[in-house]
Amino acid sequence: ASDGAGVAQPTAVAPPVAPSTRLLTVLFGTDTGNSKELAGQLADAVRPHGIEAKVVDMADYKPRALKDEQDLVVVTATHGEGDPPPNAIGFFEFLGGRKAPKLPGVRFAVLALGDSTYEHYCSAGRQVDERLEELGAERLADRVECDVDYEDDAAAWIADVAGRLAPTEAPAGAGAPAPNGTGPALNGSAAGSGSEVAHGKKHPFTAPILDNVVLTGRGSTKETRHVELSLEGSGLTYEPGDALGIVPGNDPALVERLLDRLSLPADAPVTTKQGPVPLVDALTATFEITAATPRFLGQWAELSGAEELAALRDGDAKARTAYFHEHHVLDIVERFPVPGLQAEQLVAGLRPLQPRLYSIASSLAAAPDEAHLTVSTVQYDLHGLGRTGVASGHLARLGGDEDAVVPVYVQANEHFRLPGDDVPIIMVGAGTGVAPYRAFMQEREARGAEGRSWLFFGERNFRSDFLYQVEWQQLLKDGVLSRLDLAFSRDAGPKAYVQDRIRRAGRDVYAWLEEGARIYVCGDATNMAPDVDATLAEIVTEHGGVDHEGAQEYLSALKRDHRYLLDVY
Ligand code: 2AM
Repeated sequence: ASDGAGVAQPTAVAPPVAPSTRLLTVLFGTDTGNSKELAGQLADAVRPHGIEAKVVDMADYKPRALKDEQDLVVVTATHGEGDPPPNAIGFFEFLGGRKAPKLPGVRFAVLALGDSTYEHYCSAGRQVDERLEELGAERLADRVECDVDYEDDAAAWIADVAGRLAPTEAPAGAGAPAPNGTGPALNGSAAGSGSEVAHGKKHPFTAPILDNVVLTGRGSTKETRHVELSLEGSGLTYEPGDALGIVPGNDPALVERLLDRLSLPADAPVTTKQGPVPLVDALTATFEITAATPRFLGQWAELSGAEELAALRDGDAKARTAYFHEHHVLDIVERFPVPGLQAEQLVAGLRPLQPRLYSIASSLAAAPDEAHLTVSTVQYDLHGLGRTGVASGHLARLGGDEDAVVPVYVQANEHFRLPGDDVPIIMVGAGTGVAPYRAFMQEREARGAEGRSWLFFGERNFRSDFLYQVEWQQLLKDGVLSRLDLAFSRDAGPKAYVQDRIRRAGRDVYAWLEEGARIYVCGDATNMAPDVDATLAEIVTEHGGVDHEGAQEYLSALKRDHRYLLDVY
């Protein structure tokens, strides 16, 4: 049955309720849009109670308004090392700072999203929750922390919080409407034309792969692919800067090895959300079987009775995360056999296979009905066995298969869009971080945009890793790209990174910024983006004649004005 995505949700016939006298603000901190979607679902769930919620992006929220809030609900993801997502940084700084006001009279609830394979699981949500309490706000509901398969936990939390917010409460917990439908908020990018359902995360479109070639040249130390997908007939559209969600399948060789080590028959039926399926299919398409999680560890500690696993389960998160880096699901089951294991016991510890997001490297203006991706094949050895990234490995295995298809959906990225045609842009991309800039340039070329564009691109070797070299050179020739600065880190001679090129061109970079340029940074979040940020601060200090603090304020202002945009992972 359709879950109604794409169809306006009938707001049922709302019983006549007196409008609430309390105001509700739902703040979301999001990177991929999940928190935003859940914030919207909460707003939908309280509406039948006569409550009109304001759903606000943390980036657009004036934190000084906090003290005037009445009911405040926060839904936030966690980024990297326990940080708030990019749109939430300003809000977190204010909330954690000395200027944060006391909040008596404010009622609050927090939903924390995270990924349990990370040490700082749900830490951003935890921080807001603790801080709101510390500031004297009144707790409306316990914080709920959800893993990447957040849907059910989040739906239960929404129903609970909506019930508590309802003005004239029937018996506690009763009457709270289920969150509005099971369908996702309509992806703004999904046009319904011609297709039965709007394709989104829950209804991916099965996209034929039109092209899947290795971009990196002979002798490269890595493999980066260019993958072209057909969106024809899907009704899916996107803007440059958006991402494509790919629903991968696990490596068949890994599935086979797991079955072998566990002595489980491939056709043993197991329960999934889709009903009973043969174990081999579930391990291929339904569950994550690479990285281990705390849940898997707990389950395997029980089943195997291994003290080492129990100690890890009960120990600190840092040690656990370090262990997970070295021991995938396969490594754990190989080391700690469970005689007489049942297939259901195995999958009970596994979490659902998650789609992976890739920045789209094309513009619909240049490639109608297509989405192109730039995908680096993640491959490495662990305990003498070759491993691949789940989605990048999947796409690589499909290379050469003429009939290959892959389920996809569009994930809008409103925080990484092109400005007006006349605004200059500076694009900083290392490795596959260059992908969205190919989309930007295709779009600007198609639109005949007048604004100047400057690309900083970094990779390992000029000869083998200059991704889309011919295209950039043509764009330069045609004047669509105004300037191109390259940094190759592993050629003979001194190692150069994008930030070294930015520093070298510091005077011009500063001049562009002063002339109103936007600066985009895409690629590695751990090292590249912070290093680029530090270099920008140096440049502002040097050419803007301000001290370190002044430079930080300059960059903060750029971020506040949406002129310094990050898409990092
Ligand atoms: P390296 O692998 O030689 O260290 C894409 O991966 C490019 O980003 C590579 O040239 C890589 O260099 C480079 N890179 C690695 N760390 C970086 C950092 N902190 N800042 C900028 N670029 C970096």
